[in-house]
Amino acid sequence: MRKKIVAGNWKMNKTAEEALSLVSEIDNMVRDEVNSEVTVVVAPPFPFLQSVGKLVQGNDKMHLAAQDVSEHESGAYTGEVSAAMLKSVGVEYVIIGHSERRMYHHEDAQTLYQKMKATIAHGMKPIFCCGEPLEERDADRHFDYVGKQLHDSLSYLSNEEFDQVVIAYEPIWAIGTGRTASSQQAQEMHEYIREQLARMFDAEAAYNASILYGGSCNPGNAKELFSQADVDGGLIGGASLKSRDFTDVIKSI
Ligand code: G3H
Repeated sequence: MRKKIVAGNWKMNKTAEEALSLVSEIDNMVRDEVNSEVTVVVAPPFPFLQSVGKLVQGNDKMHLAAQDVSEHESGAYTGEVSAAMLKSVGVEYVIIGHSERRMYHHEDAQTLYQKMKATIAHGMKPIFCCGEPLEERDADRHFDYVGKQLHDSLSYLSNEEFDQVVIAYEPIWAIGTGRTASSQQAQEMHEYIREQLARMFDAEAAYNASILYGGSCNPGNAKELFSQADVDGGLIGGASLKSRDFTDVIKSI
């Protein structure tokens, strides 16, 4: 059964107090206004996982995500946070391979594969991000580019491991730019991604995989994007920092 998911990636925003007030507003709005079968995920920065997680635990619809994880199990890796640590504070999803991490932290396909392995081994679900830069789209190479990203990090997973994976397609030119992909651009890429997944894993697993769209998704365009056959929800940046906007995006599913 394919799950509908709306995930809010807070990136490097909010203080402890602001994080708590944002999640409690979202919690209240989700309780009062969201009736559909949707999985709501919030991904605060590491220091707020525990406090935000406490609120999330009391709401059946809401789940906690981390924005990254170390590929290492434990030990002398100053500044890193392990999968076991995340699991121990109630994290259920981990965003892996966001374009900002690929770009600013030079995370390569092999590292991302290891991060996924660590996440799954500790009973959490990776949200694996892919997406092309503008020059690849302009050169009409976007399908090959995304196909390679998927193949290079996912193809070594077993079918059972892949069952835990959520995919997020985020064209880099649409992230934080206000320029979203059209619903047609999103649908054709999501369909292509599902085809690639069916080649790497079994067809049923590919059919059941949730593929989220990310990139300037907001209350004004979410309904149209989410109405596409292969768009199973969204990974939301800017609009997830305001409880009203985030809830309206959730209600668009
Ligand atoms: O992880 C979220 C994405 O990078 C989308 O960010 O909604 O601010 O464009 P955005």
